[in-house]
Formats: sequence, structure tokens, C-alpha cells
Amino acid sequence: MDADLDTDWAALLAARDGAAPTGPLAPLFAPVLVPPTAPDGCRVVGRLAQTLDGRIATASGSSQWIGGPGDILHTHRLRALCHAVVVGAGTVRHDDPRLTTREVTGPDPVRVVIDTDRRLSADHGVFRDGPPTLLACADDTQGGDTHGSARVLRLPRDPGGGIAPAALLRALSAQGLSRVFVEGGGLTVSRFLAAGCLDRLHVTVAPVLLGSGIPAFTLPEVARIADGLRFGWTVYQIPPDILLDIAIDRARPGQS
Ligand SMILES: NC(=O)c1ccc[n+]([C@@H]2O[C@H](COP(=O)([O-])OP(=O)(O)OC[C@H]3O[C@@H](n4cnc5c(N)ncnc54)[C@H](OP(=O)(O)O)[C@@H]3O)[C@@H](O)[C@H]2O)c1
Repeated sequence: MDADLDTDWAALLAARDGAAPTGPLAPLFAPVLVPPTAPDGCRVVGRLAQTLDGRIATASGSSQWIGGPGDILHTHRLRALCHAVVVGAGTVRHDDPRLTTREVTGPDPVRVVIDTDRRLSADHGVFRDGPPTLLACADDTQGGDTHGSARVLRLPRDPGGGIAPAALLRALSAQGLSRVFVEGGGLTVSRFLAAGCLDRLHVTVAPVLLGSGIPAFTLPEVARIADGLRFGWTVYQIPPDILLDIAIDRARPGQS
């Protein structure tokens, strides 16, 4: 990392625990650092790196790396600024990510894996070592209160299936984890979006076409273009990619 970037990042990291964000990185990250106002007690940023045709991985699940080095740096910065990083079971199954801040200076977030039926083996690295980890599963699943080195967080099943994002956010906020980074994959970010549980959305678009693969967004069907969720965005250059910062402000697709 060059010295200017390091200084810019240090200025922003100082804002993690309450100082006013300053420096060139503030316009992009200050909205993430705003104190929570939602009833669940959390400020939530979702993120995906997608191809031009809206894929986050090949059909077989390979996603490393859709974005360039700037996207990886951005992802690690979001981890360092947030108290918790959330991923879905599919991401752990395919990538077994460490979810640490090894590319930047800054604390590791608590890792949260959503696996409703507790199907993931405890052999995955995220459950073996590294920063504190929570396995969020349904309250009717079998097994003890730990999963490898992770602590099990039991939550009610949502009538619509899975675990309601709002219930997870309330549980995290009750543990002092009020700034939450939903890192992927597509189904997990989509569930938070569909539930009206995202404040910001950061989408990296890479100049790649796959023509097939795992979609970025899977949301309830709409009948008319006018029913789509329309928003403003700010575009940042992270060559060779672009990064879109979107103020979702807890809007729900299909309910404009
Ligand atoms: N390009 C990127 O930015 C990026 C980022 C991350 C991952 N990836 C790639 O994306 C792929 C995985 O993405 P994906 O969309 O298939 O899966 P995913 O979002 O990682 O995981 C989906 C699974 O997580 C569980 N889940 C998530 N939210 C839930 C909720 N609210 N309630 C209950 N269960 C919930 C469910 O598991 P159960 O059905 O088992 O309960 C669901 O099937 C991998 O190939 C990975 O490499 C790409």
C-alpha cells in the first residue's frame, strides 16, 4: 500500500469508533459509519462483486477473483470498519473464506455464517480457528451450543423460509455488533435487500462477461419496469472495475 493510501485509510479508521470521518475516503465510507436508526439497532451495508452480466460466480461456484485488487482492498476495509461480517452457507461451502482484515490495518470483525439447517461441516476453516465466529441457525436444529470453535446463535424460522434478517440483526445488536457488513453471496445479500434490511449497497462491476453463473440478485418477481427498485448511485473508479455506492435506505424491492 502506498503512503498516501495508508494515511487516507488511517484517517478513516480513526472514525470507526466515533470521530468524524475525514480525508478522501470519507464520502464513500462515512454513510457506513452513521449511527443506526433502524428498529433492529443496526447499520447494514451489503456488498457484491459482479460481472457486467450480473454474475457473482461461475455455475460451479468459482468466484476468485471477479473484482481486481481495488475490490479486494475495499472489501477488507469494510470488514475493518464493521463489527460483524455476515456470509451465507453457500459462500462457506464454496470458498471457506477467512473473512479477516489481512489486507489492511484494522480489527477483524466477528464472523457470522447463516446456515439455517446447520448442514455445514465443522471442518470448514471458519469454524476451526481465527476471529470469533457465530453460526446462525434455526432454533429447532439439533446439536450443541458450539460448532467447531464457533458459537451457535439460534433464531426462529421465518414463516417465509430461512432466518429473518431482521431477527439476526436484533440478535447481533443485542451483543453490541451494530455495524454489519453483509459480504455475500448473492442469495444472502438478496434476502437482506428483500427484507428491507440494507442501508447501503456497494456493488463492484468488473469488465467481464460470463454468460452464465450464479446471479448477483435474486428477488421477488415484478410485473412492470415501474415496479423495479430505482435509486441514485455514486460511481467510484477502482481500475479496472467501477464501484457503485447506493443509498438503499431500507427500501424493499417491489414496494416503491
Ligand atoms: N462475487 C462476490 O462478491 C461473491 C461474494 C461471496 C460469495 N461469492 C460466491 O457466491 C457463491 C455463493 O453464493 P450463493 O448466492 O449461492 O449463496 P450464499 O448467499 O453464500 O448462501 C446462501 C445460503 O445461505 C443461507 N442463508 C443466507 N441467508 C439466509 C437467511 N436469511 N435465512 C436462512 N438462510 C440463509 C441459506 O443456506 P441454507 O439453504 O443451507 O440454509 C442459503 O441457501 C459462491 O460460489 C461464492 O464463491 C461471490
